Amino acid sequence: MDCIKIIGGNKLSGTIPISGAKNAALPLMIASLLTDDILSLEDVPYLADIELLTRILSNHGVDYSVNGRREHQSGAYSRIIHFNARHIANTIAPYDLVSRMRASFWVIGPLLARMGEAEVSLPGGCAIGTRPVDWILDGLRKFGADITIENGYVRARTKTILCGIDYTFPKVTVGGTHVMLMVATLARGDTVLRNAACEPEVINLANCLNLMGARIIGAGTSEIYITGVSRLSGARIKVIPDRIEIGTYAIAVGMVGGDIFLEGADSSLLSTVLQTLRKAGVHIIENDQGLRIFRDTSSLAPVDIITQPFPGFPTDLQAQFMSLMTCAKGRSHITEIIFENRFMHVQELARFGASISLSGHTATVEGVKFLKGAEVMATDLRASVSLVIAGLAAEGETVVNRIYHLDRGFECLEEKLSHCGAQIQRIRA
Ligand code: EPZ
Repeated sequence: MDCIKIIGGNKLSGTIPISGAKNAALPLMIASLLTDDILSLEDVPYLADIELLTRILSNHGVDYSVNGRREHQSGAYSRIIHFNARHIANTIAPYDLVSRMRASFWVIGPLLARMGEAEVSLPGGCAIGTRPVDWILDGLRKFGADITIENGYVRARTKTILCGIDYTFPKVTVGGTHVMLMVATLARGDTVLRNAACEPEVINLANCLNLMGARIIGAGTSEIYITGVSRLSGARIKVIPDRIEIGTYAIAVGMVGGDIFLEGADSSLLSTVLQTLRKAGVHIIENDQGLRIFRDTSSLAPVDIITQPFPGFPTDLQAQFMSLMTCAKGRSHITEIIFENRFMHVQELARFGASISLSGHTATVEGVKFLKGAEVMATDLRASVSLVIAGLAAEGETVVNRIYHLDRGFECLEEKLSHCGAQIQRIRA
């Protein structure tokens, strides 16, 4: 299996182009199932999860074509992809595809809304927690769908017609909001989604749906109002910049020092994270092209964080921030409340010499003077990149195993970092 080898200690300097967000591109791609016209997405990152969803959509009968790289385009490989779901050949999403990526379960919404039926394998658990889909199924039932679970598959059918609902999510769910939003656009009458996710990716999806002819207001707040329409048309929209990629590189500079420009980064996508990094001693200057991130030789201050839905500190940056705090001068507390099992990186960070203890949902990190390179492996995407960040700062050699996790969510990671002076290399098995 491939691995990544890092020789730590180099400061980072240069420009990193920020890619389109994986977590925005996935629901946008799924929205292509809602129309028989062409949906064109700009700045789609080249990532394993995107390729997998393309295969899943193809299995439903969606044709797609990919434009080549343009000279003016920011992002190393970000592409324009045109999706055409004119002929849906199959409403079944099988286990072998859905089990590899939870977000693919979301096809259940548009297939049900447009075709009146869908049969989708349950996504199952994953390394960061059990992650059920109960609220999604509850919402679909309230729209009027008949839902049964047989042999690990959810079978959804419209009894007569889907009708708008007034629905309150028990807890904020990003995927739940995406699915309900897509269904509501084609349901008859008005829908109100309360306690909805306010994430920028939800706004990106709602903007896309509105361009397709949907009538949605309030996306980006916790109450979204949708008036159903009888059909949606095609559209063209840009995937928003990846806020987790922005935060990851900003944290990397905080960790190893240096001065980088994150081209295309938008501070409004992660203001809580930037505020937290400033408290820790990282300097951030924004302009309309992106963000300049730099750190001088002063030591890092410890800062406590609690993960929260947007606009709070994102769970998808928790592991990276923990890496940073392992080198702060003092003690910090990191509390994870979104997922029950998202501390798998703790034992791997300990291999670098980090001092972290766990109690319930909180990790207590005692900063150490330096980390030492180690051989490590990770169990999920964001944990993997936290180990890369630790390796960049550690003395000597680090080997990160199981890097297929990284390929799911970070476009051209090694290229972007090595262009900025990091000694990082992929070793092919
Ligand atoms: C999205 O996952 C992201 N994935 C995740 O990013 C991210 O960590 C998460 O939102 C939280 O921000 C994509 O956008 C593709 P949720 P999602 O529904 O939508 C519980 C990454 O690394 N819940 O907001 O699946 C759930 O178990 C990934 O890129 C239910 O109990 O997350 C969790 O505790 C990882 N029942 C909480 O809600 C449900 O029916 C929030 O999950 C739905 C959710």
